[in-house]
Amino acid sequence: MVGSGGVVGTGFLVIFYGFAVGILVGWSVPAEISSLSQLQYLYLDGSGLSQTFPWKSLQNMTGLVQLYLGNNPFNPFPFPKEVLQLTNLTWLYLSNCSIHGTIPAEIGNLKELIYLRLWGNNMTGKIPVEIGNLVNLRKLSLSLNSFIGKLPVGLRNLTKLKVFHSSMNNLEGDLSELRFLNNLVSLRLCENELSGQVPAEFGEFKKLVNLSLCYNSFTGPLPQNLGSSAKLYFIKLSMNSLPAKFHRICASKVLAFFFFPSLYYKTRIVRLGGIPESVDSVLYL
Ligand SMILES: *[C@@H]1O[C@H](CO)[C@@H](O)[C@H](O)[C@H]1NC(C)=O
Ligand SMILES: *[C@@H]1O[C@H](CO)[C@@H](O)[C@H](O)[C@H]1NC(C)=O
Ligand SMILES: *[C@@H]1O[C@H](CO)[C@@H](O)[C@H](O)[C@H]1NC(C)=O
Ligand SMILES: *[C@@H]1O[C@H](CO)[C@@H](O)[C@H](O)[C@H]1NC(C)=O
Ligand SMILES: *[C@@H]1O[C@H](CO)[C@@H](O)[C@H](O)[C@H]1NC(C)=O
Ligand SMILES: *[C@@H]1O[C@H](CO)[C@@H](O)[C@H](O)[C@H]1NC(C)=O
Repeated sequence: MVGSGGVVGTGFLVIFYGFAVGILVGWSVPAEISSLSQLQYLYLDGSGLSQTFPWKSLQNMTGLVQLYLGNNPFNPFPFPKEVLQLTNLTWLYLSNCSIHGTIPAEIGNLKELIYLRLWGNNMTGKIPVEIGNLVNLRKLSLSLNSFIGKLPVGLRNLTKLKVFHSSMNNLEGDLSELRFLNNLVSLRLCENELSGQVPAEFGEFKKLVNLSLCYNSFTGPLPQNLGSSAKLYFIKLSMNSLPAKFHRICASKVLAFFFFPSLYYKTRIVRLGGIPESVDSVLYL
């Protein structure tokens, strides 16, 4: 045992060898966790943590492998620089926890990262090119922020990437950086300001299951074999400048053609204060 369970406000932090898991709600984490320098796994996702997390306490936890602090109503804070020193991290979950500002270039230090989740914050600026150093990334989710600019050139290096979600940002430019990421299983980029053609290479992405590019400014023609994966689940392309009958591309497999106001849109409606005239159309296969 590194430490034993301790009462903190109205909650508990349960600590086993190398593990800390938060239970109960309405509490904040004490700076004393800094004494857990051997900690490898810190799971405090959705633990009702409020106010301010003691980021400095992570300073000496250099062996931390997984850090989950998402879904907590913290006071707004910038990306914590202490986390950028934790070079053994493989999983970093900091979604929906009130981070504002940019992703620091030093994110590129975290070369072991496999999962990086930052969705649902209030982050701005460009996605840094240094993200291209994270060559082990399998899943990158940045949706529901206010990121701007083009997809950074570094993205082309993330050849192991299976999931890239960055819907509901203000990204622009085309998708050429993603042309060679043929391990993609799920790509979601709805509601940005992206443009250009969908790269021909996407037609050869045999593992692609979910693709959503709706509410952008893409133009046709679409890749010949887009959606030819045997496991295809959906393609969402509406609200672009694409040929209206795109669904013919994989007509042989079409079972149904739906109108689908997904939960995503409900979130967006709240944010925009208005209801889109046309909801997304979905191919269900
Ligand atoms: C980290 O370790 C250094 C050196 O042992 C110590 O001076 C410092 O106070 C520690 N930081 C925290 C937050 O415990
Ligand atoms: C980081 O991981 C490496 C390889 O697994 C390990 O040898 C090293 O001890 C870890 N660092 C710390 C500070 O635990
Ligand atoms: C975001 O976090 C809050 C808690 O702070 C939680 O109630 C909410 O369900 C989370 N949102 C999503 C989409 O998971
Ligand atoms: C995001 O930040 C802006 C400017 O700092 C602020 O006006 C806005 O309320 C924030 N939104 C959220 C959802 O926190
Ligand atoms: C991509 O990888 C190459 C070769 O590993 C490297 O030289 C280059 O700096 C990387 N590019 C970016 C933008 O990270
Ligand atoms: C595809 O999308 C559906 C519906 O959102 C989801 O249930 C499924 O897990 C997704 N599949 C992948 C591989 O992301």
